[in-house]
Amino acid sequence: MSQPNTIYLKDYLPPQYSAKQVSLEFTLDDTGCHLVSHVDYEIQGSDHTLVLNGDADILTLVSIALDGQIVPDSHYTLEGDQLILTDLPDGFKLSIETQFDPKKNTKLSGLYQSQGNYCTQCESHGFRRMTYFQDRPDVLSIYTTSITAPANHFNAMLSNGNLISDQTSAGLRTVIWHDPFPKPCYLFAMVCGEFEQLSTQYTTRSGRDVTVQLYLEPGCLGQGQFALDSIIDSMKWDEETFDREYDLDLFMVVSVSDFNYGAMENKGLNVFNNKYILASPQTATDQDYINVHAVIGHEYFHNWSGNRVTCRDWFQLSLKEGLTVFRDQSFTMDRYSKGVKRLNDAAIIRQFQFAQDSGPMAHPIQPPSYIEVNNFYTVTVYNKGAEVIRMIQTILGVDAFRKALNDYFETFDGQAVTCDDFVAIMAKSSGVSLDQFKLWYTQAGTPQVQVSYQYNKSENSMVLDMTQAIPDTPEQTHKKPMVLPIRVSFLDDHGTIVNAQYNGERAKEHLCLMTDKEQTFTFTGFDSEAIPSVLRDFSAPVALSIPLDARQRAVLMQYETDPYAAWQAAHGWMSELIMHHANDAQAIAGLASVMTSLLQDHAKSDTYFLADLLVLPSLGALIEEHKPVDIQVLKANHQAVQQSLAALLSETAEKAYQTLTSQITAYEPSLEAMGVRKLRQVCLYWLAVAEHQNFETYAKAQFETADNLTDQLAVLSALNRKPSELRNALMDAFYQDAQASDLVMDRWFQLQASMGDASVLAQVEALISHESFHWSNPNRVRSLLGVFGANPYGFHQNDASGYAFLLAQIIHLDKLNPQVASRLFDPLLHWEKYQGNTKQMMHSCLKSIDLDTISDDLFELVTKALAEAS
Ligand code: TRP
Ligand code: ZN
Repeated sequence: MSQPNTIYLKDYLPPQYSAKQVSLEFTLDDTGCHLVSHVDYEIQGSDHTLVLNGDADILTLVSIALDGQIVPDSHYTLEGDQLILTDLPDGFKLSIETQFDPKKNTKLSGLYQSQGNYCTQCESHGFRRMTYFQDRPDVLSIYTTSITAPANHFNAMLSNGNLISDQTSAGLRTVIWHDPFPKPCYLFAMVCGEFEQLSTQYTTRSGRDVTVQLYLEPGCLGQGQFALDSIIDSMKWDEETFDREYDLDLFMVVSVSDFNYGAMENKGLNVFNNKYILASPQTATDQDYINVHAVIGHEYFHNWSGNRVTCRDWFQLSLKEGLTVFRDQSFTMDRYSKGVKRLNDAAIIRQFQFAQDSGPMAHPIQPPSYIEVNNFYTVTVYNKGAEVIRMIQTILGVDAFRKALNDYFETFDGQAVTCDDFVAIMAKSSGVSLDQFKLWYTQAGTPQVQVSYQYNKSENSMVLDMTQAIPDTPEQTHKKPMVLPIRVSFLDDHGTIVNAQYNGERAKEHLCLMTDKEQTFTFTGFDSEAIPSVLRDFSAPVALSIPLDARQRAVLMQYETDPYAAWQAAHGWMSELIMHHANDAQAIAGLASVMTSLLQDHAKSDTYFLADLLVLPSLGALIEEHKPVDIQVLKANHQAVQQSLAALLSETAEKAYQTLTSQITAYEPSLEAMGVRKLRQVCLYWLAVAEHQNFETYAKAQFETADNLTDQLAVLSALNRKPSELRNALMDAFYQDAQASDLVMDRWFQLQASMGDASVLAQVEALISHESFHWSNPNRVRSLLGVFGANPYGFHQNDASGYAFLLAQIIHLDKLNPQVASRLFDPLLHWEKYQGNTKQMMHSCLKSIDLDTISDDLFELVTKALAEAS
């Protein structure tokens, strides 16, 4: 087998030919799909050679015609995945016939079948699995698509844009769609099948009437209304917040069972994973409702940030993804809890993005190279990319940022552009220089920020000394200091925020703009020494270290008004106890007394937020913050602190549990009701850890009376620490309920895979052959194997059996669906974050892989993981 190629950003060359008009003719029948494409090519560069991409894995090339004349085999070359034509005229029409079978498409890229329905996924390289084309985002075309199939076979035959014809004759139905907006082929979509439909009307701010249609698999109609409402809400929000209006007369969303990722923003025809559309109280948790709303927002917002203005090449992926994640995060902050959304997003960066930054796959948000682009749809490109946009908003100010974003959309409408273009217009529009800031796009690694502070009595001042350092990452050393916007407040001993003075201004919060390696910031106007609260609102994606004692942390945890800062204090305190004082009863009692008083007073606070303050950091978060760790010691210490806290908290937790239970009402996905459920879940969890005498009574009652999935899962996850009679009985009952919904069945698999006991490995091994486990369904595979890989109790066995098991499953799946397989590999990538034997065992597991027989997707990850060793 040949070694896969690395592709470099520095090698970018514009396409030699444009393809302004594309006409696609699909015919679907029992034998599969027959496709004829007609494309008008016109010379743009100087080379009269046309290089088209295809995928020999699935395509059969039937014929090629140039301006209507058949091109003989001798006049083109078909080398691997490329079709090359030379000595071409300046302009011509090329017609290509291909044949392929969507039933055999197990990669779920290109045209495939899900539950018997046909749908496409073209980003990033799925279009080449249907026809030979310049499959790159800087070739923009206007598409006309016809679909022909046996009459009465499908109730929906859809593609991008507007329906311009629908005719049936001689037993065949042909529909024709036309999309007036030029787009790259990755935004093309076609869907054919039997669906149930919900629809509504929306009138945009400027008066355009839009028909909105939601297509659901049979039997799912009752779970679609929340998604439909969310579409309308997204349309309103983007008008109000960023002046963006929808631009077609029709907006369609299709939801399917089998999908590699969350959803896809195809122009006018978004395709979704059911997980991000279907919602009913019995099949979706509170968090699922919020996620549905957020992902619908995300894909809808792409219509401007991604579709109207698109990417020049895949190295610019963050141009659309970072910006669109920033937009969907802002949407969720406006619609639910601003503070909790912010701290959840910060926690994702801290646990997962920092881990990527410090591992073998570290890359800047604009990567300089890749082997397989699908490996770069990452938490760095998406979530760190969103943090970079957020910092631009912070530096420019909200109003200047909004104006600059409008300038961006107007200037580049209809074009395929770069991150450089984006930053340049932000700077030009606002008059703020972003020259140094641009390092965020090219430097990988998490800036480590150290803060020390001092009270100066004679000056009534607090002096903060800050340093920044960015660790080396693969192929990147000696990094330059970056621009770090750091929000700072001070609290007095009673927890009151001080109106401090900085830069001639008095305020409760100040923005320190760090630009050098070391910098001193002086604040004045204090009566006594104050507690610094640094990195409020997680204003920059940096790892902060600041020396604070238990007394200071207690004040921040109880009185900080910024939810992220309060959570950061709690998290830091808990981590320190687990890492260094796991057997120090007095130190743990200090934390327990603050948690107790917060829980006692829960009626006075925002319960939705409080719940996040009263749980221990996950093992995953601790591994990342304290690497390299001894995993067995860490597990033991985590359990020890958890046990001690539970014993001290259980009395208060029981009272709070009773009060909150009395506040439970019929299910509604409102923030208030979610807050009651979420805090009650935390109480139940502490009662479980404490093995409180009434725990099982509460658990049983809650499970039996629950009218919603959230309250049921709260019980099952509290019971899921180890096998028990009650756990097993309720899991069986839950399995019966789960028969009615794939998404609930996924939850059953997730629970099995996340049990906090070493016996989980045997359980998961057995579930591979369970009748409800299907390799062809990515949600099911992730529910079992993705969750297992993230469960340190199952994955890290003393004899390496957890690593070998996961690897064998990944290698099996790699043959069917390499994109999903390579996502499951993540836990194995991080072998260098463990000490001693664990590290050795993981490394030998990696070395056992035969590089000649795996996909490019997996090859890239495995070789990068092993390169670390040298
Ligand atoms: N562009 C999609 C999004 O962010 C992501 C996506 C969906 C995707 N399907 C994919 C990326 C397949 C790569 C391959 O919403
Ligand atoms: Zn996206």
